[in-house]
Amino acid sequence: METCESKTLRSPDFPIGWYSVARGSEVKTGEVKRVYAFDRELALFRTRSGQVAVTDAFCPHLGAHLGVEGKVVGESIQCPFHGWRFDTSGQCVDIPYCDEIPTRAAVRSWTVNEINGDIMVWYHPNEEPPAWEMPLIEEFQSDDWCEPQTWEFTVPNHVQNIAENACDPVHFQYVHKNQETPENTVTIDDDGRVLRMEADSRYAAHPNILKVIMHNPGLAIVRTVYGPGAEMLVYNTAQPTTLNETHLRWSLSVRNEIVDLVGDDVMRGIKDGINDDMPIWRHKVYREKPLFCKADTTLILFRKWVRQFYVD
Ligand code: FES
Ligand SMILES: [Fe+2]
Repeated sequence: METCESKTLRSPDFPIGWYSVARGSEVKTGEVKRVYAFDRELALFRTRSGQVAVTDAFCPHLGAHLGVEGKVVGESIQCPFHGWRFDTSGQCVDIPYCDEIPTRAAVRSWTVNEINGDIMVWYHPNEEPPAWEMPLIEEFQSDDWCEPQTWEFTVPNHVQNIAENACDPVHFQYVHKNQETPENTVTIDDDGRVLRMEADSRYAAHPNILKVIMHNPGLAIVRTVYGPGAEMLVYNTAQPTTLNETHLRWSLSVRNEIVDLVGDDVMRGIKDGINDDMPIWRHKVYREKPLFCKADTTLILFRKWVRQFYVD
């Protein structure tokens, strides 16, 4: 008997880019957290001066997990096992019972950016430095927009497969039961990296124009305009925990004009939408070479775009 297909197809690697590992508000000054991302253990801490750092979890000494019972001491994290301390760059700066620090005493430190309410780390399989900066969400700084509501959920699938949905207008009709497929365009900026999707549902029950800007798989800004002053923003970051599981963090804001009117409804609508997608995500396999038809233009473009986030 042939091996079941789901067992022979494999997911792509983790794509290059910026990913969230926590909300900024979850890590108070002096706090240490254990994080699981990119199929590895990490330690996350906030120093006394307020700086956030993410390091590989396991102490180079005897391998204790720095994120479990580790302690912040000033600008460093202290290993719970024998008290070695590492600064935010991962360098060992103190061994309490020895004057000499071995030169190789360090843990890998990840590039971190706390921005738009999330703690983001840069992922590159070869540990290369960030190739682009994080976008700043201006609505979150603006008095015209409400304090963002946050929502998180875990999807049992690879981050690329989740991102692909944004370029999949046809699934809105079948999975989300939309009346029709909205008119849509997918374009890629001159730099080749930023992908934009625009969908025009002007004849829908709640006519709207939706604009998605995707900076890397899992990092997307979705703006929906229902009419003058009736605007909504969903900011979307992702924590790929394994190749087949992704934790998503959403921050949702609307313009003050409509916050009382639709704030909660909009949130409910979005949650329902995700529940529609779940059964597909839970059970689908990753097709490295999908059998596309001629009309699958936006999906074909997505697959071309996404290649840049892998090294081979
Ligand atoms: S294992 Fe970390 S100090 Fe010994
Ligand atoms: Fe969907």
